[in-house]
Amino acid sequence: MPDVSDVSDVALAETEGQARIDAADSVEALRAVEAEVVGRRSRLASLQQGLAGLPPDERRSRGRQLNEARARLQASLDLRRVEMGKSERRARLESERLDLTEVLPRPGPGHLHLVTQTQAELEDVFVGMGFTVAEGPEAETDWHNFEALNIPPGHPARSMWDTFYLRLGPPGSTLLRAHTSPVQIRVMQSQPPPIFIVAPGRAYRRDTPDARHLPVFHQIEGLVVDRGVSFADLSGTIEAFTTAYFGPAIHSRLRPSYFPFTEPSAEYEINCTICRGAGCRTCSGTGWVELGGAGMVDPNVFAAVGIDDEEWSGFAFGFGIDRCAQMRHGIADMRVLLDNDIRFLSQF
Ligand code: PHE
Repeated sequence: MPDVSDVSDVALAETEGQARIDAADSVEALRAVEAEVVGRRSRLASLQQGLAGLPPDERRSRGRQLNEARARLQASLDLRRVEMGKSERRARLESERLDLTEVLPRPGPGHLHLVTQTQAELEDVFVGMGFTVAEGPEAETDWHNFEALNIPPGHPARSMWDTFYLRLGPPGSTLLRAHTSPVQIRVMQSQPPPIFIVAPGRAYRRDTPDARHLPVFHQIEGLVVDRGVSFADLSGTIEAFTTAYFGPAIHSRLRPSYFPFTEPSAEYEINCTICRGAGCRTCSGTGWVELGGAGMVDPNVFAAVGIDDEEWSGFAFGFGIDRCAQMRHGIADMRVLLDNDIRFLSQF
């Protein structure tokens, strides 16, 4: 049995305990020290147990010494805890400090996104050639997006446009326009020829994003309806636009293709702006990059909007605005256009 009658045992336990309290360097360490110094298994607790074997007088006075020592240790523990909690909190706040005025260099005023700038520039080129700008809704009817463009329901050509359908009206009746060609239909329904319009705007396709495709992208549609319009007019318009926008070193070519709403139809390509026609990775070694489609308006389209194809003829084209920006600025991967990384955007 420990010798509890010795005052020095209590004093020693207190001195030791105090030293450990002073040495604790965190709130967590202090919690462990507290158990060791005043807890059930502490030196003070075992001295307390030893009191039982003492004569009553001595038990009382040693008991008082023990209680006083424990009370002092406890007070010291409490004080340390409060102090340490405060300084830990201060350190945490300091480390989490977020000074919004520290973001340097301070960004200047914002500016239009590269795609918006490109759209405005393309519009300017066409307005300079005598076109006016038309608009149409992004949520379209199946009829405007497909049927009136000579693509009946169930026609295999529909698979050329992987379409987002909307839960609106009868199933399959409304969609997010898959191209800007429905604006042709709306314009021809609302005004008589002659027509010279361009229609820029967003288009949507269920495409997996990659270096040259985005599921939300921008197109600019062109439509001319007049007397005696020929394929040569289409070709000349495309070439005039190409050199106006990309510079005199870049030319266009039309390759035979298929679109249900034009006949004949063509693919519109330009010299690769990255390699200037020599062949590189971006143009898959061909020296040419596809920008969009074009062709002479199909008589079935004129029929859908009630224009007499004996009197009138026309051409249409549609190409990617994002793709234009990509080719003009040598952007390897189109997805950066949507990343909203200010380091990229601020270059334009
Ligand atoms: N709308 C077509 C597309 O997005 C492009 C096009 C427009 C083709 C006009 C011919 C005439 O694929």
